[in-house]
Amino acid sequence: MMDDSENKTVNPRIAAGAATIGDVIGERLSRRGFLGGLGAVSGLALVGCATGREGAMALAEAPAEAGTEPAFRFAEIMRGMDETHHVAEGYRADLLIRWGDPLFADSPAFDPMNQTAAAQRRQFGYNNDFLGLVPLEADAGGAERALLCVNHEYTSTNIMLPGVTAGYPASMTQALCETEMAAHGGTIVEIRKEDGAWKPVVGSPYNRRITADTTPMRMTGPAAGSARLQTTEDPTGTLVSGTVNNCAGGITPWGTFLMAEENFNGNFLGTLPEGHREAENHKRYGVPSGWYQWGRFFDRYDVGKEPNEPNRFGWIVELDPMDPSSMPKKRTALGRVKHEGAENVIAPDGRVVVYTGDDQRFDYVYKFVTKGKFVAGDRAANMDLLDEGTLYVARFDADGTVAWLPLVHGTGPLTEENGFASQADVLIETRRAADVLGATPMDRPEDVEPDPKTGRVYVMLTNNDRRTDAQVDAANPRASNRFGHIIEIIEPEGDFTSETSRWEMLVRCGDPSVAPVGALWNPLTTENGWFSSPDNCAIDPQGRLWVSTDGNENSGAADGLWALETDGARRGTGRHFFRCPVGAELCGPRFNEAGDALFLAVQHPGDTDGASFEAPGTRWPDFQPAMPPRPSVMVITRNGGGPIGG
Ligand code: FEO
Ligand code: CA
Ligand code: CA
Repeated sequence: MMDDSENKTVNPRIAAGAATIGDVIGERLSRRGFLGGLGAVSGLALVGCATGREGAMALAEAPAEAGTEPAFRFAEIMRGMDETHHVAEGYRADLLIRWGDPLFADSPAFDPMNQTAAAQRRQFGYNNDFLGLVPLEADAGGAERALLCVNHEYTSTNIMLPGVTAGYPASMTQALCETEMAAHGGTIVEIRKEDGAWKPVVGSPYNRRITADTTPMRMTGPAAGSARLQTTEDPTGTLVSGTVNNCAGGITPWGTFLMAEENFNGNFLGTLPEGHREAENHKRYGVPSGWYQWGRFFDRYDVGKEPNEPNRFGWIVELDPMDPSSMPKKRTALGRVKHEGAENVIAPDGRVVVYTGDDQRFDYVYKFVTKGKFVAGDRAANMDLLDEGTLYVARFDADGTVAWLPLVHGTGPLTEENGFASQADVLIETRRAADVLGATPMDRPEDVEPDPKTGRVYVMLTNNDRRTDAQVDAANPRASNRFGHIIEIIEPEGDFTSETSRWEMLVRCGDPSVAPVGALWNPLTTENGWFSSPDNCAIDPQGRLWVSTDGNENSGAADGLWALETDGARRGTGRHFFRCPVGAELCGPRFNEAGDALFLAVQHPGDTDGASFEAPGTRWPDFQPAMPPRPSVMVITRNGGGPIGG
């Protein structure tokens, strides 16, 4: 999902006239044309003139005629943008499940003109984002099975609900707000491979919907019970109904699902009581941002009535997908930010390390190191590992060092004099704690993905068009960074728990043929191989990096998935594999263990400028006049089988 300032335009946008796909593409292309007019040069020349640092120079010095074979073997697709998706030749892209599809035997049929919260709670939710797989044993017939764990990040009010565009926000009723809450959260759905195709198992006993309002959750860890988490609904500060804005996430080595709560600020309306102690705290998180109308009908989303409620969001939620009756837990030890994801890894000494980005311009990269160690084969022993440990925030130094700064109450400036009376305060105000420690403000940190085999960690930095020349630093080297970049962290000897690491620039995104963009790609990258606004990523079973984007449309072509070389003379070469329909960003990417199936989440298709339910940018994937566009999960397989990407 786009960050604050862009999201603020989501709802006002619905009052505007709808654009046609032609308008959208024309507008994007003309923007690109304008940039192109600033002076197109060859990719090779641009690499040479880029203001490179350590990693950049390595790229610039790489021979164009690389001696190494490409890590990926597929014919890349063309950049472009139209109503539908595209995948590399020789691959199949099948729809697995769409918003509104049934999960249970009693799920009502999807009826977009008569949406209700009750129906939505029995159906696949909106705006699929994170995709995780928890393998199950094959069935009696030998069919491959897994639990697909999905986050439903947010609702695109304008294109999801009929009849709200005219007269918004007055057009929003309590019932419509409840429908939105039911569409947030997550889905657990069993999937099975039958006759070579993956299908959801409707009515599986594992299937579950998690929502923003009807799923009770427990607060655990150091902040649980804090007075700052207490509300009228829960005077104990230990229980909360629901989870919101679940963006990316992670699957732990013990098979639980981590759901990252991201832009919770947008759910709140109202005005804090004068002089309230949470004033500075809420301001730091942009609360209340009022992207939704929920606060008109539900006191908990009105900060004037429930000033502490925002403190109950912004956490990492842990859920056991194997037990549909289990109560999810908000693990406060991992801090409270706009968590993008929670990818994790077992360190050599057995401790577990969870990486997370705080997706906001000028916010930070974090890692959490458990106190206890992972015990193989003893699931119960691992189930509360995330309640104790050390949260660190990253400072990226110009000499290529990463200093991981511990957010521990009583150390350094994290003391009572600075307003931190306890570890609970440090965690509830994680951002302010990281501010006073001197962490490096980044260009919107999104997915942070560790590679267990190499000790390298990839950090997606989507963009930051507000960085000024005076704010440029080594790790965020471009002012007005519209296109983002990717940093590689090298954990020493694969020790993910290390408090000191190294970092290098992998790529600076954007069009390498446009000098003012300042992009940095391996010169072997083709005109289709570069991208902008990296958001999510995945490492496949062969250890290769794949990057999905949110905002590539700013470069004149649809979002999608690119393979990205990380080693040898081809390091920094992108290759385009999958393209979204117009208006969509691509989330998820998740490979199965065999690497022969790739799951992709197409989020907010058709949400072009000015789009509405009545006039969306596309009606993908059904293309029926009465059917709105539907966020959907796709499965990519190779014709004849075999590893994705060759
Ligand atoms: Fe939910 Fe930062 O994307
Ligand atoms: Ca995003
Ligand atoms: Ca994202």
